[in-house]
Amino acid sequence: MQNILRVSGLYRSFGTGSAKVEVLKDIHLTIETGKLTILRGRSGSGKTTLLNLMSALDLPTSGSIFFEDEDITKLSENKRDELRRTKYAFVFQSVALIGNMTAYENVDFALRVAKCPPKERERRALAALTRVGLSDRRQHRVQELSGGEQQRVAIARAIAVQPRVIFADEPTAELDSVMGERVMKLFREIVEEEKITVVMTTHDPHLMKEADTIFLLEDGVVVS
Ligand SMILES: Nc1ncnc2c1ncn2[C@@H]1O[C@H](COP(=O)(O)OP(=O)(O)O)[C@@H](O)[C@H]1O
Ligand SMILES: [Mg+2]
Repeated sequence: MQNILRVSGLYRSFGTGSAKVEVLKDIHLTIETGKLTILRGRSGSGKTTLLNLMSALDLPTSGSIFFEDEDITKLSENKRDELRRTKYAFVFQSVALIGNMTAYENVDFALRVAKCPPKERERRALAALTRVGLSDRRQHRVQELSGGEQQRVAIARAIAVQPRVIFADEPTAELDSVMGERVMKLFREIVEEEKITVVMTTHDPHLMKEADTIFLLEDGVVVS
């Protein structure tokens, strides 16, 4: 399938009456399978809102979101949970690892949640940590690692569950530019080698060169 995600006539507003804010207005876009797509735009342009909708964390006011040709806005809460657990993985700006667990334990924990059998867990956790260049740091507690290393652990955790799509919301925003570019290159490699689709948001113009497709959001509208 060429397009893993398709968004059609998507609206999202918050609040009601005079307090109503229309954050996304008639968004149409497709995300190609096995590519790295960036949602770009100023702070407040609606990037996180759009990412949360595509990743089934939120529901639209109206419109459709197709994942592999199924409209995920019509799924039950349980099916949406299952989709997030089995087909999707997440990387956030503020890392969201368990600080007093080791790098290995964090990845292993995600695999437990995904109900991966123990032998397979060990193999996948080691492979993922090796993939991000942290196999020698696997027994370090996360809180002892640098910001860039922590974000790489978060990426290892995401790839270990072998998702179809990784959604990353401003994954480099809290890193310096060198670390940011390193994390970006890692996403690029994952797309190439693991055949995982990556959809990320950023407002950093230096990172655009690693993208296959860039959608520019302005005030809740895709302008290019
Ligand atoms: N839960 C919410 N309730 C009310 N307004 C929201 C909510 N989430 C986002 N917004 C508003 O939507 C707009 C876009 O936010 P967001 O999607 O976070 O933008 P970005 O990620 O591009 O910075 C902002 O004006 C924000 O205040
Ligand atoms: Mg945001």
